[in-house]
Amino acid sequence: MTTERVSPVSRVDGEVMVPGDKSISHRALLLGALARGRTYIGNASPAADVLSTAACLRACGVWVRDFPPARYALDGAGVGVSLRSPEAVLDCGNSGTTMRLLAGVLAGTECVAILDGDASLRRRPMRRVVDPLRAMGAAIDASPEGTAPLRVQGRRTLQSVTWQSPVPSAQVKSAILLAGLSADGPTTVIEPAMTRDHTERLLAMCGVTVESHGPQVTIHPGQLEPFGLRVPGDLSSAAFFLALAASRPGWRVRCPGVGVNPGRTGILDVLEAMGAAVGLDGGDPAGGVEPVADIEVCGAQLHGVTIAGSLTVRCIDELPVIAVLASQAHGVTEIRDAGELRNKETDRIAMLETGLRLLGVPCESTADALTITGPVPLRAARLDAAGDHRFAMAWAIAGALVPAGGGATVIDGADAAAVSYPGFFSDLASLLRS
Ligand code: S3P
Repeated sequence: MTTERVSPVSRVDGEVMVPGDKSISHRALLLGALARGRTYIGNASPAADVLSTAACLRACGVWVRDFPPARYALDGAGVGVSLRSPEAVLDCGNSGTTMRLLAGVLAGTECVAILDGDASLRRRPMRRVVDPLRAMGAAIDASPEGTAPLRVQGRRTLQSVTWQSPVPSAQVKSAILLAGLSADGPTTVIEPAMTRDHTERLLAMCGVTVESHGPQVTIHPGQLEPFGLRVPGDLSSAAFFLALAASRPGWRVRCPGVGVNPGRTGILDVLEAMGAAVGLDGGDPAGGVEPVADIEVCGAQLHGVTIAGSLTVRCIDELPVIAVLASQAHGVTEIRDAGELRNKETDRIAMLETGLRLLGVPCESTADALTITGPVPLRAARLDAAGDHRFAMAWAIAGALVPAGGGATVIDGADAAAVSYPGFFSDLASLLRS
């Protein structure tokens, strides 16, 4: 475990090429493994989570070759037959996406596998994928608490289902859609709110028939064509720098080539609603599968906002840094409908309440909401990332926002940033001006 010290910043101005998108990289690896033939992936995420997906696929006998820093080639044999039973437990590390999506893939094979992860992943709810995959005919067990380790015994042909998911979750939706490739008919998932549709876009790119109507998506079973894909930059990684730039008039950050999937752009809507200037150059898929844009954010005097409903879903991973930013905005920021934050790598509502209070920020929480009142001159503090990558980075942004002369903020467990963004601290340093 490493500790980082972040000192107050006098100005932020510059450009960062953030690494490839983590969500898309997981999916590209999984679909490349299922397609018949050779797939090439460029600008893949260097996240430890994505390495977990690649390692699990290899453990299931898939030929996955990496060309560091960011390229992969994979050979797949086809849906239902590319993977074989691993000899050892599949270690999903810290990655919920690896565990849930891989469970969906394995459900449609004749493999027997045990999926496990670190202490954080073992705490996270898995019934949300166990129930639909069981309904489709896979034998799948979790612990009595509904958590990992998961034991999956798949079936080459599953039953098609129409599944009403109680939670908006792209991981749950994706697990069901991936299992649906092996079903005996079309499989439909209906969500309470629309979530990121990376899986649907990539499946369509591979020649699978996918019908989307808002929060309802149907997939037709079938084989996948191999592909070549350049993964766009990760908006969830750029979010930390964009939020920092937003916080003060005269500060600016530009991130070129970032994915702007509509299921992910809530952070841009929030920054704009708070008063920052958000410029987008591009944003059209232009023949690609995912929209990509150069994003520039210029700071302003911010004001508090309400984040609720589908907007909460569209910025779910960015809420820690948004909450930090809210401490610099005039008035009250309310984050509502955010109960899912308690099911992430940590209980992110509890983490925010503890950390923000140490920073001197008034905040209140309920089961599914957080209220922050600003603006507050932050107090340098010693903060714990608690193994959660988003906090290793959100607390760094807080440290940068401490007024000049306020001393360094100490972040314990800062190495957790590598779960999604190994180069975060050096990229942050590159933006700081005197
Ligand atoms: C993800 C979906 C979201 C998100 C996670 C990545 C994905 O999780 O928070 O970081 O890649 O599908 P849920 O599906 O649990 O909402």
